[in-house]
Amino acid sequence: MFGVGKSKNIVAVDIGSYAIKAVELDIKKKGETLHFQVARVGYETLPRDAIVEGTIIDGTSVSDALRSALNAGKITSKNVLISLSGSSVIVKKIALPQMKPEEMAESILWEAKHNIPYPFEETSVDYAILNPNPSSPEDNLDILLVAVKKEKITAYSNVVYQAQKNLVAVDVDGFGLLNCYEINYPELFPEKNVALVNLGAHVTNIVVVDRGIPQVFRDLDLGGFFFTENLSKEMDISFEEAEKLMQGAPAGSHNPEQLDDILERNIGDMLVEVDKTLSLHTTESARGKKIDFIFLSGGLAGLKRMTGAFERTFQTPTRLLDPFRHIHYNESRLNPAYYQKIPLVFAVAAGLATRTMDK
Ligand SMILES: Nc1ncnc2c1ncn2[C@@H]1O[C@H](COP(=O)(O)OP(=O)(O)OP(=O)(O)O)[C@@H](O)[C@H]1O
Ligand SMILES: [Mg+2]
Repeated sequence: MFGVGKSKNIVAVDIGSYAIKAVELDIKKKGETLHFQVARVGYETLPRDAIVEGTIIDGTSVSDALRSALNAGKITSKNVLISLSGSSVIVKKIALPQMKPEEMAESILWEAKHNIPYPFEETSVDYAILNPNPSSPEDNLDILLVAVKKEKITAYSNVVYQAQKNLVAVDVDGFGLLNCYEINYPELFPEKNVALVNLGAHVTNIVVVDRGIPQVFRDLDLGGFFFTENLSKEMDISFEEAEKLMQGAPAGSHNPEQLDDILERNIGDMLVEVDKTLSLHTTESARGKKIDFIFLSGGLAGLKRMTGAFERTFQTPTRLLDPFRHIHYNESRLNPAYYQKIPLVFAVAAGLATRTMDK
């Protein structure tokens, strides 16, 4: 989105508040088909208070972790693409009549001013036309308007510069997630109405894509961090211990029923919020069309009961998104710990990495 052209050897970096994920792909074109192969992946967790609710509190820790993630993956490419998320990132779909490019720029600015809940001067705006060549002159252009607070772009850019890397573009998590689904599920992408839900630590990204056309991009300010915090408070244990329980460590001396009960309640609260976004979409979409599948990703999707909870609540088949289903991953060359233990957390970075080449 907010970019300065594209070049080769770009590494896609998802700077989450729990961990930094980096993915570099080899992309080869054979005829009309693109073949994706993971060249390198890197991962590094962050200190708990380094990024809070999408705000970088400790830039040095974040840039150190970025360096470590890249070193861990033996990634030497200096060119970095990052994505942003959270409530200061707004992606909205609008429809405009066809018009000349210079009129378009003005209309987009007008729309942006009326769709952004914070001062326009503090915001960077970009857009993408979803249907650049409509079949009839009467058809509207569907446009994705992206608005991000400038201070957010500056803070995340500085982390990249501090790690002595070049920032080549800034994207949004939702687009990474969308591309990840498109590349890995080509049989569903053009046909189904699907909700992608990426459950992170502070942010839950929701994307709804109906037969290849994105309909909704929404970031909720909630995630696994709040689960861990509630476990820690209610069970009177340290945050670190609560984190281990979240990730499936045996309950040991802790009361497993209490653990189950707290997790169940937190999942319930999360589902209420996800439901608000999904129901709004279902009522707003002209046909009130039902969602065919839900795909979950992100660290919190690692909670065993999460998939079933979504399936029951929304009465919709729910699966875990496999970011490397159609992106070849050579386990002998790459650290298998990433693939075996935590593929779910690479959804955004893997999808972003596919955006590093013009398609
Ligand atoms: N196996 C697991 N089971 C349950 N929760 C897990 C598991 N592994 C990680 N988590 C939780 O997932 C969250 C981290 O996920 P992820 O790496 O997707 O977040 P992030 O992208 O760094 O954060 P965000 O984008 O929200 O700022 C943490 O809250 C962590 O507690
Ligand atoms: Mg994330």
